[in-house]
Amino acid sequence: MNRVPTSERNSGSDLIPMELLSSSDADISRAAAALACGRLVAFPTETVYGLGGDAFNVNALARIFEAKNRPFFDPLIIHIARMEDLDRLVFWDSLDSRAVKKFSLLAKNFWPGPLTFILPKLPKLPDLANAGLPSAAIRFPSNPVAQQLIKLSGGPVAAPSANAFGCLSPTRAEHVVSQLGNKVDFIIDGGRSGIGLESTVLDLTAEPPRLLRPGGLSREQIEAVIGAVEIPAQQPGAGAQKSPGQLKSHYAPLTPLCLYPSGGLNSLPPLPGEGRLYFSPQGFSTGNESGSISGSIIENKQSGVPFRILSERGDLVEAAANFFDMLHELDKLGLEIIRAEEAPPYGLGAAINDRLRRACSN
Ligand code: TXA
Ligand code: MG
Repeated sequence: MNRVPTSERNSGSDLIPMELLSSSDADISRAAAALACGRLVAFPTETVYGLGGDAFNVNALARIFEAKNRPFFDPLIIHIARMEDLDRLVFWDSLDSRAVKKFSLLAKNFWPGPLTFILPKLPKLPDLANAGLPSAAIRFPSNPVAQQLIKLSGGPVAAPSANAFGCLSPTRAEHVVSQLGNKVDFIIDGGRSGIGLESTVLDLTAEPPRLLRPGGLSREQIEAVIGAVEIPAQQPGAGAQKSPGQLKSHYAPLTPLCLYPSGGLNSLPPLPGEGRLYFSPQGFSTGNESGSISGSIIENKQSGVPFRILSERGDLVEAAANFFDMLHELDKLGLEIIRAEEAPPYGLGAAINDRLRRACSN
């Protein structure tokens, strides 16, 4: 266990340094006890790391927004680790019977896992958790560390992704340390997030259901179980969001990012200070790469441009798992610009392209 001293703490918290915990039973128990006392714990999930606080504790909820510098109009996802906990959150009586059926089918097929449902909420869930909306976002993560933590803490845990608002989502504990280190009480290191993209958000208060955020479960997988879903048009502007966190600029690296169609990077002459993110080796001429220049970043032998490839075999699941990780790596190089190419537009490629467009500054 490493203590990371902090020079400054936000208001409302004691002068206790953040502690980096392992995923041992003893450490998870400590973190769960802290959650139950209203403290903030960043923890691994199969999608990305979450910044957790007790969903029924308004002080903890307020600290989540403060730590992330997140606007209060952007509602949080509530995480459960027992199906019984749904009854503490969901106002079932106000849900259409078709939606109840779709919920059961989807939960049976995909929970625990990377699918978040928007469901009508009970009034006792504090408005702060869900921006005063009549609905709440609810997810049952499959990561065993997350499950153990939530269960031991005794209750639903509100947890947005554990990054500063608008920045790249964390897929490793070290990403959380560098973005939020001095603003949380504990960070559990559970290794790299396997899926690597946030959960898919599906609104079951609408008929047909609306896919508000493409994510770790593809539209095709959902439609194979419940039939057609609707993709709403982008809703610009502030105000409590019906279409979730989908502010146009989001998930952005510090380095400006430009996006090109699949294969479109290949013919471009290099720019000074650029780095590239390819979807697969088909996006560029092979044979020119040299050895590692930083971590797993490689460099084009002829042009000297550092680059990464999301999936050597052009596999969407592998590409999704690498996506934020590789953007974090490129972002650390101090480049002038990152040029990226789109993934194929189906399956998890839809979620990768959604994140790329929001990260894009052109
Ligand atoms: O994979 C994930 O979903 C991760 C991990 C930690 O579970 N969490 C995550 O949370 O991505 P966050 O806060 O970064 O994204 C939550 C999304 C936001 O886009 C938010 O606007 C939307 O869910 N959301 C939450 N409550 C909503 C509601 N009642 N209606 C519509 N959208 C909602
Ligand atoms: Mg987020």
